[in-house]
Amino acid sequence: MDIFEKCHKFRDADVVKEAGLYLYFRTISSAQDPVVTIDGKPVVMLGSNNYLGLTNHPEVKRAAQDAIAKYGTGCAGSRFLNGTLDIHIQLEERLAAFMNKPAAVTFSTGFQVNLGVISCLVERGDVVYLDKLDHACIIDGARLGFGSVVKYNHNDMEDLGRRLKVHDAKKAAFVVVDGVFSMEGDVVNLPELVRVAKPHGCRIMVDDAHSIGVFGAHGRGTAEHFGLEDEVDLVMGTFSKSLASVGGFVAGEERVINFIKHRARSLIFSAAAPPASVAAVLKAVEIIEREPERRERLWENTHFMAEGLRSLGFDTGESRSPITICGRSPRRAASRAPPSAAMTSASPQAASRSRSGARSSRGPLASTIDFWDIKPPPWAGGGWFACTLSHPSAGITRVRSCGSRA
Ligand SMILES: Cc1ncc(COP(=O)(O)O)c(C=O)c1O
Repeated sequence: MDIFEKCHKFRDADVVKEAGLYLYFRTISSAQDPVVTIDGKPVVMLGSNNYLGLTNHPEVKRAAQDAIAKYGTGCAGSRFLNGTLDIHIQLEERLAAFMNKPAAVTFSTGFQVNLGVISCLVERGDVVYLDKLDHACIIDGARLGFGSVVKYNHNDMEDLGRRLKVHDAKKAAFVVVDGVFSMEGDVVNLPELVRVAKPHGCRIMVDDAHSIGVFGAHGRGTAEHFGLEDEVDLVMGTFSKSLASVGGFVAGEERVINFIKHRARSLIFSAAAPPASVAAVLKAVEIIEREPERRERLWENTHFMAEGLRSLGFDTGESRSPITICGRSPRRAASRAPPSAAMTSASPQAASRSRSGARSSRGPLASTIDFWDIKPPPWAGGGWFACTLSHPSAGITRVRSCGSRA
């Protein structure tokens, strides 16, 4: 038996490619702007998490360039050993102040934050409670820990409550949940979660990857949005979305952050985030604080887009964020009965593709996630759009009118 046998047998991607419908690893030859270049043609970008339009901002780029000039291109080691620069420390202090938490620690990716934090906190005998639709890195972080994992139905706080009722009080309990669910675009029911979980002594961690810079009066995420910052023990965020870079952080109580710094394997055994990425985030935080109007424009675009899609008959599901579901959410489809007629209508992007059988410069680039073993295939519906503040309404109007042809 050859370990590669499964690879040689894997044909699903080839079948979709042969049908001219393959949507992944598309090559972009421009910056993450509202219009990007694909195959030399302009395409409206609606699959990017560049929510506040900062990845191509001149001040952010200059900060990254200056950091390269001063520190070079890499740290050549882990934060734990030789890789901690003064700007890592500055960024951690800046993020703690921004998040209104006593301390923060940064990692090289958001994925590594959840892997490291959850796996080191959840020890043998502890229990971590997860929403069934939590992000993959939350699930993987929990798998790496030695405690037990209990999953509750998506955003169903009654189900969480039922599970907590039978929780053994001698065991430490931890709930880790997405603030905004990255595939569905819906928002955690945090008030209910806090009400249900806190009486059991549960600690709460919110993954605000899609909410930092987007939710809350100051952009501090879903806990700020709901006025529950004191009840949420740990907040994690990534730098790869509103913060215009790559990396991630977790913010919370000093002693807990200190423990994570000395126990999280994805921090200790992985190279530090490079200087350019760190400096870009420092500048992005400054701009987010200085220009709250960016958030306002993002929400205007989000509402304009969602209302437009709904008026065209698309199902936007429970999306309440700049991630706007259009059609059918594939992960829901995996656990539910066949989609309704309304939900099988193809997304504008899929419609333009399936008609032309190839990339269409007319259709926008939205995102579709498919799991190969789920039928029907992705082009039967189920895309999501991510609005950013920098989409001129003309671009979104084009998407809306493209939708009317679907
Ligand atoms: C909810 C959520 N958490 C964590 C991550 C991981 O972040 P990163 O891409 O910065 O590693 C993502 C990335 O898409 C995400 O959507």
